[in-house]
Amino acid sequence: MCMRKIVAFLLCCAVYPVCANDSPHLGKPAPQGLEKAWNGDIFPNGKGLPAGSGNAITGKKVYTQYCLSCHGVDGTGGSAEELAGAKHGLTDNPPDKTIGTYWPYATTVFDFTRRAMPLNAPGSLNHDQLYAVTAYLLYLNHLIQETQLMNASTLPKVKMPNRNGFINQYQAR
Ligand code: HEC
Repeated sequence: MCMRKIVAFLLCCAVYPVCANDSPHLGKPAPQGLEKAWNGDIFPNGKGLPAGSGNAITGKKVYTQYCLSCHGVDGTGGSAEELAGAKHGLTDNPPDKTIGTYWPYATTVFDFTRRAMPLNAPGSLNHDQLYAVTAYLLYLNHLIQETQLMNASTLPKVKMPNRNGFINQYQAR
């Protein structure tokens, strides 16, 4: 064994026990309450919806501040996909999938936005803002009036055009 290899070998022996007991320091402990926040499923019949309310007029302000930069003016798409303003239907080629043409349940708009949007700060909107921006997206898709208030009891009642378009439909309990 040449001298360089011996030195390297001894070095390894000296350092290994220290490194071997050391964790790679990946990730960090989940902050308190995170699990609860992530575990907030909302069902199509409204089960799980929190208190709060909002309409499309306030929702437009929320959208402009937190969503427009990616989803474009009136939800017609930008760097992220379109959310409203379908130019044709689902059966055309290619299909035009927006919230209005594709999504079967209005409650999912609230649930998804609460979980995942805005993409750069999920979980940052309060419940009133979430109801308002949901109302705005439903309004843009011509499903509710601009002043119609969305809350835990009105949101599940919004009937989506593609409600019967999926095979495994949720059975309201
Ligand atoms: C930084 C860019 C960005 C911002 C800001 C943002 N989004 Fe998104 N959004 C995305 C991307 C990218 C996707 C597609 C990826 C995905 O589905 O996770 C998406 C997907 C969505 C979808 C699902 C669309 C579909 O049909 O699958 C909805 C609904 C949505 N965003 C709503 C919102 C709302 C409401 C806001 C504002 C509160 C917002 N987004 C802000 C980037 C963004």
